[in-house]
Amino acid sequence: MKPFRLSLVFMMGLNLTAAYAADPHAHHVPAPAHDNRAVLKLTPGERIMILEEMRLFLDGVQKMTGALGRQDMQATANAARGMGQIMVHEAPPALRAKLPLEFRQLGSSVHRDFDQIALDVETLKDVSHTLNQLSAALQKCVSCHTMYQIQAPVLNPGR
Ligand code: HEC
Repeated sequence: MKPFRLSLVFMMGLNLTAAYAADPHAHHVPAPAHDNRAVLKLTPGERIMILEEMRLFLDGVQKMTGALGRQDMQATANAARGMGQIMVHEAPPALRAKLPLEFRQLGSSVHRDFDQIALDVETLKDVSHTLNQLSAALQKCVSCHTMYQIQAPVLNPGR
Protein backbone atom coordinates (compact mmCIF):
# COMPACT_ATOMS: atom_id res chain seq x y z
CA MET A 1 0.00 0.00 0.00
CA LYS A 2 2.73 2.42 0.96
CA PRO A 3 4.83 2.24 -2.22
CA PHE A 4 1.63 2.76 -4.23
CA ARG A 5 0.80 5.91 -2.28
CA LEU A 6 4.30 7.24 -2.63
CA SER A 7 4.28 6.70 -6.35
CA LEU A 8 0.82 8.30 -6.64
CA VAL A 9 2.12 11.42 -4.91
CA PHE A 10 5.12 11.35 -7.17
CA MET A 11 2.98 11.13 -10.29
CA MET A 12 0.75 13.96 -9.08
CA GLY A 13 3.85 16.02 -8.56
CA LEU A 14 4.98 15.32 -12.10
CA ASN A 15 1.57 16.22 -13.54
CA LEU A 16 1.53 19.46 -11.64
CA THR A 17 4.95 20.34 -12.94
CA ALA A 18 3.77 19.63 -16.48
CA ALA A 19 0.59 21.69 -15.98
CA TYR A 20 2.57 24.62 -14.64
CA ALA A 21 5.03 24.46 -17.48
CA ALA A 22 2.15 24.62 -20.00
CA ASP A 23 0.25 27.39 -18.19
CA PRO A 24 1.46 30.88 -19.02
CA HIS A 25 -0.22 32.17 -15.84
CA ALA A 26 1.56 29.63 -13.66
CA HIS A 27 3.22 32.37 -11.65
CA HIS A 28 -0.17 33.53 -10.36
CA VAL A 29 -1.23 32.49 -6.88
CA PRO A 30 -2.94 29.09 -7.26
CA ALA A 31 -6.67 28.94 -6.41
CA PRO A 32 -7.29 27.57 -2.91
CA ALA A 33 -7.86 23.82 -2.84
CA HIS A 34 -11.49 22.86 -2.50
CA ASP A 35 -12.64 21.62 0.91
CA ASN A 36 -15.46 19.13 0.38
CA ARG A 37 -15.97 18.25 4.02
CA ALA A 38 -19.42 18.78 5.52
CA VAL A 39 -19.64 22.13 7.25
CA LEU A 40 -20.61 22.51 10.91
CA LYS A 41 -21.92 26.06 11.11
CA LEU A 42 -21.06 27.18 14.61
CA THR A 43 -20.83 30.46 16.45
CA PRO A 44 -17.28 31.67 17.15
CA GLY A 45 -17.72 30.64 20.81
CA GLU A 46 -18.90 27.14 19.90
CA ARG A 47 -15.99 26.73 17.53
CA ILE A 48 -13.56 27.74 20.27
CA MET A 49 -15.17 25.18 22.59
CA ILE A 50 -14.79 22.31 20.12
CA LEU A 51 -11.27 23.21 19.08
CA GLU A 52 -10.23 23.43 22.74
CA GLU A 53 -11.43 19.88 23.24
CA MET A 54 -9.49 18.83 20.15
CA ARG A 55 -6.28 20.32 21.47
CA LEU A 56 -6.87 18.46 24.74
CA PHE A 57 -7.06 15.27 22.68
CA LEU A 58 -3.77 16.01 20.96
CA ASP A 59 -2.19 16.90 24.29
CA GLY A 60 -3.46 13.64 25.77
CA VAL A 61 -2.13 11.56 22.88
CA GLN A 62 1.26 13.25 23.27
CA LYS A 63 1.33 12.49 27.00
CA MET A 64 0.13 8.97 26.44
CA THR A 65 2.71 8.08 23.78
CA GLY A 66 5.48 9.66 25.86
CA ALA A 67 4.50 7.58 28.88
CA LEU A 68 4.15 4.46 26.77
CA GLY A 69 7.63 4.97 25.33
CA ARG A 70 8.99 5.01 28.88
CA GLN A 71 6.83 1.97 29.65
CA ASP A 72 5.31 3.95 32.49
CA MET A 73 2.00 2.10 32.48
CA GLN A 74 0.39 4.11 35.27
CA ALA A 75 1.10 7.41 33.50
CA THR A 76 -0.13 5.86 30.24
CA ALA A 77 -3.39 4.81 31.91
CA ASN A 78 -3.82 8.26 33.45
CA ALA A 79 -3.30 9.99 30.11
CA ALA A 80 -5.74 7.62 28.37
CA ARG A 81 -8.36 8.06 31.10
CA GLY A 82 -8.02 11.84 30.78
CA MET A 83 -9.38 11.45 27.24
CA GLY A 84 -12.22 9.17 28.37
CA GLN A 85 -15.72 10.04 29.56
CA ILE A 86 -14.19 12.32 32.18
CA MET A 87 -13.33 14.76 29.39
CA VAL A 88 -16.94 14.98 28.23
CA HIS A 89 -18.77 18.12 29.24
CA GLU A 90 -22.43 18.37 28.54
CA ALA A 91 -22.55 20.47 25.40
CA PRO A 92 -24.89 23.48 25.54
CA PRO A 93 -28.22 22.43 23.91
CA ALA A 94 -27.81 24.97 21.09
CA LEU A 95 -24.47 23.42 20.15
CA ARG A 96 -25.74 19.87 20.52
CA ALA A 97 -28.55 20.64 18.12
CA LYS A 98 -26.04 21.67 15.47
CA LEU A 99 -23.89 18.56 15.69
CA PRO A 100 -25.01 15.68 13.46
CA LEU A 101 -25.82 12.42 15.22
CA GLU A 102 -22.95 10.69 13.44
CA PHE A 103 -20.53 13.34 14.68
CA ARG A 104 -21.69 12.93 18.28
CA GLN A 105 -21.59 9.14 18.07
CA LEU A 106 -18.07 9.14 16.68
CA GLY A 107 -17.00 11.58 19.38
CA SER A 108 -18.39 9.54 22.25
CA SER A 109 -17.02 6.31 20.85
CA VAL A 110 -13.51 7.84 20.94
CA HIS A 111 -14.00 8.74 24.62
CA ARG A 112 -15.22 5.22 25.37
CA ASP A 113 -12.19 3.77 23.55
CA PHE A 114 -9.81 5.72 25.77
CA ASP A 115 -11.54 4.48 28.93
CA GLN A 116 -11.18 0.92 27.67
CA ILE A 117 -7.53 1.53 26.77
CA ALA A 118 -6.90 2.85 30.31
CA LEU A 119 -8.45 -0.28 31.85
CA ASP A 120 -6.47 -2.61 29.58
CA VAL A 121 -3.20 -0.78 30.24
CA GLU A 122 -3.70 -1.39 33.95
CA THR A 123 -4.60 -5.04 33.63
CA LEU A 124 -2.49 -6.21 30.65
CA LYS A 125 0.53 -3.86 30.82
CA ASP A 126 1.25 -4.72 27.20
CA VAL A 127 2.80 -1.87 25.21
CA SER A 128 2.09 -3.22 21.74
CA HIS A 129 -1.50 -4.10 22.63
CA THR A 130 -1.98 -0.52 23.81
CA LEU A 131 -0.38 0.86 20.66
CA ASN A 132 -2.78 -1.16 18.53
CA GLN A 133 -5.73 0.14 20.52
CA LEU A 134 -4.42 3.70 20.28
CA SER A 135 -4.03 3.36 16.53
CA ALA A 136 -7.65 2.15 16.22
CA ALA A 137 -8.86 5.11 18.30
CA LEU A 138 -6.78 7.55 16.24
CA GLN A 139 -8.39 6.13 13.12
CA LYS A 140 -11.66 7.61 14.40
CA CYS A 141 -10.02 11.03 14.77
CA VAL A 142 -8.87 10.67 11.17
CA SER A 143 -12.35 9.63 9.95
CA CYS A 144 -14.07 12.54 11.60
CA HIS A 145 -11.51 15.03 10.30
CA THR A 146 -12.07 13.64 6.82
CA MET A 147 -15.81 14.27 7.07
CA TYR A 148 -16.28 17.60 8.86
CA GLN A 149 -15.00 21.13 9.03
CA ILE A 150 -16.11 23.99 11.24
CA GLN A 151 -17.09 27.35 9.87
CA ALA A 152 -17.92 30.23 12.13
CA PRO A 153 -19.18 33.62 10.87
CA VAL A 154 -15.95 35.26 11.99
CA LEU A 155 -14.12 33.17 9.37
CA ASN A 156 -16.53 34.20 6.63
CA PRO A 157 -17.31 37.86 7.27
CA GLY A 158 -19.04 38.13 3.88
CA ARG A 159 -21.79 35.59 4.70
C1 HEC B 1 -16.42 13.59 15.97
C2 HEC B 1 -15.46 14.29 15.16
C3 HEC B 1 -14.04 14.44 15.62
C4 HEC B 1 -13.29 13.54 16.32
C5 HEC B 1 -13.66 12.14 16.77
C6 HEC B 1 -12.01 14.16 16.51
N1 HEC B 1 -11.99 15.40 15.95
FE1 HEC B 1 -10.44 16.71 15.98
N2 HEC B 1 -11.53 18.07 14.93
C7 HEC B 1 -12.81 17.86 14.46
C8 HEC B 1 -13.23 19.00 13.67
C9 HEC B 1 -14.56 19.17 12.96
C10 HEC B 1 -12.15 19.92 13.68
C11 HEC B 1 -12.08 21.25 12.94
C12 HEC B 1 -11.55 20.95 11.55
C13 HEC B 1 -11.66 22.14 10.59
O1 HEC B 1 -12.55 23.00 10.76
O2 HEC B 1 -10.85 22.21 9.66
C14 HEC B 1 -11.10 19.30 14.49
C15 HEC B 1 -9.89 19.89 14.78
C16 HEC B 1 -8.87 19.27 15.48
C17 HEC B 1 -7.61 19.90 15.80
C18 HEC B 1 -7.22 21.34 15.48
C19 HEC B 1 -7.45 22.17 16.74
C20 HEC B 1 -7.26 23.67 16.55
O3 HEC B 1 -7.06 24.37 17.56
O4 HEC B 1 -7.32 24.15 15.41
C21 HEC B 1 -6.85 18.97 16.45
C22 HEC B 1 -5.44 19.13 16.98
C23 HEC B 1 -7.66 17.76 16.55
N3 HEC B 1 -8.88 18.00 15.96
C24 HEC B 1 -7.23 16.60 17.16
C25 HEC B 1 -8.01 15.46 17.32
C26 HEC B 1 -7.54 14.21 17.90
C27 HEC B 1 -6.12 13.93 18.37
C28 HEC B 1 -8.59 13.37 17.89
C29 HEC B 1 -8.69 11.96 18.36
C30 HEC B 1 -8.11 11.58 19.63
C31 HEC B 1 -9.72 14.09 17.31
N4 HEC B 1 -9.32 15.35 16.98
C32 HEC B 1 -10.97 13.55 17.16
C33 HEC B 1 -13.60 16.76 14.69
C34 HEC B 1 -13.22 15.61 15.38
